Amino acid sequence: MSEQKKLLEVENLKKYFAVKTGSFKKNYVQAVESANFFIYKGETLGLVGESGCGKTTLGRTLIRLYEPTSGKIIYDGKPIYDSEKKIAEKMLPYRRKMQIIFQDPSASLDPRMTVGEIIGEALDIHNICPSKAERNDRIRNLLSQVGLNTEHANRFPHEFSGGQQQRVGIARALAVNPEFIVCDEPISALDVSIQSQVVNMLEDLQEEMGLTYLFIAHDISVVRHISNRIGVMYLGCMVELAESYELCAHPVHPYTKTLLSAVPLPDPVKSRARERILLEGDIPSPMNPPSGCRFHTRCPYATEICKQEMPKLEEVGPGHYAACHHLEQA
Ligand SMILES: Nc1ncnc2c1ncn2[C@@H]1O[C@H](COP(=O)(O)OP(=O)(O)OP(=O)(O)O)[C@@H](O)[C@H]1O
Ligand SMILES: [Mg+2]
Repeated sequence: MSEQKKLLEVENLKKYFAVKTGSFKKNYVQAVESANFFIYKGETLGLVGESGCGKTTLGRTLIRLYEPTSGKIIYDGKPIYDSEKKIAEKMLPYRRKMQIIFQDPSASLDPRMTVGEIIGEALDIHNICPSKAERNDRIRNLLSQVGLNTEHANRFPHEFSGGQQQRVGIARALAVNPEFIVCDEPISALDVSIQSQVVNMLEDLQEEMGLTYLFIAHDISVVRHISNRIGVMYLGCMVELAESYELCAHPVHPYTKTLLSAVPLPDPVKSRARERILLEGDIPSPMNPPSGCRFHTRCPYATEICKQEMPKLEEVGPGHYAACHHLEQA
């Protein structure tokens, strides 16, 4: 990447959901805890972690589809949310710049609208292409950009395969010429045979349009080749963040090491010979997370300080960040 300008920065970003736990009792799901990181313009930042660790919540809170509980979000140098200074910018102008491709393609498209109407609605909200002819042209162009036929504009979402529905979701996100897209597991609901087609298409579109991606996935092996950098989450906390190669070759956090040890290697002999690190116990509930470091209940290196103090995400090498009290042992 030639320029290393930051497009999005977050400081101490938190998202808690209030949930009822009895007729009068209320509790909080602490889905994202104090996120501190940034995304460079034009890069793909991969975000990985187990199911329920808060990836979708973080992705949606970044673009304020979920209102943050507290913290700060800066987009292109401008604070769009700051709980301390009571800043909460109106999001409509930013919605055009920040888009999302949803995790579940079928649930994210209105079944009563044709594909043309779905894409057209995004154009109308932002008053792009007010003339009918221009609007129809743009819809046709978007469909062909994502590899669909122009006649598909008159069909309803249920008349498409999962892969095609995801392409419609991508066309809808692209319709408004965005700068930043949260790609929330855009391929995990798809058949393996078309996953790479969709990934390649997203990469081509990124190059053509200079897009910046937050690419969410369960699995490190999905994002390692397409991400410039990767962030690893555990139970609402970012535990490690580094350049993709660096993270995969020299992980420093015990949780990242566990995730990587589960990635199959192409050579079956090496794969069998490699030591797999297995974690004890289940992932704790984000409604009642462990004190201190949230990973301490499953970490082989945990000591007293880990139970008491949440470690900060600190730079441990150039551009390599980790949150752990015992990196020297891990
Ligand atoms: N609207 C909501 N209300 C209450 N709790 C929620 C809500 N959305 C998410 N959660 C909870 O927040 C936590 C994080 O959920 P999230 O969907 O962000 O996880 P995820 O990492 O995206 O998981 P997956 O990989 O399965 O998509 C989970 O415990 C989930 O149950
Ligand atoms: Mg999710």
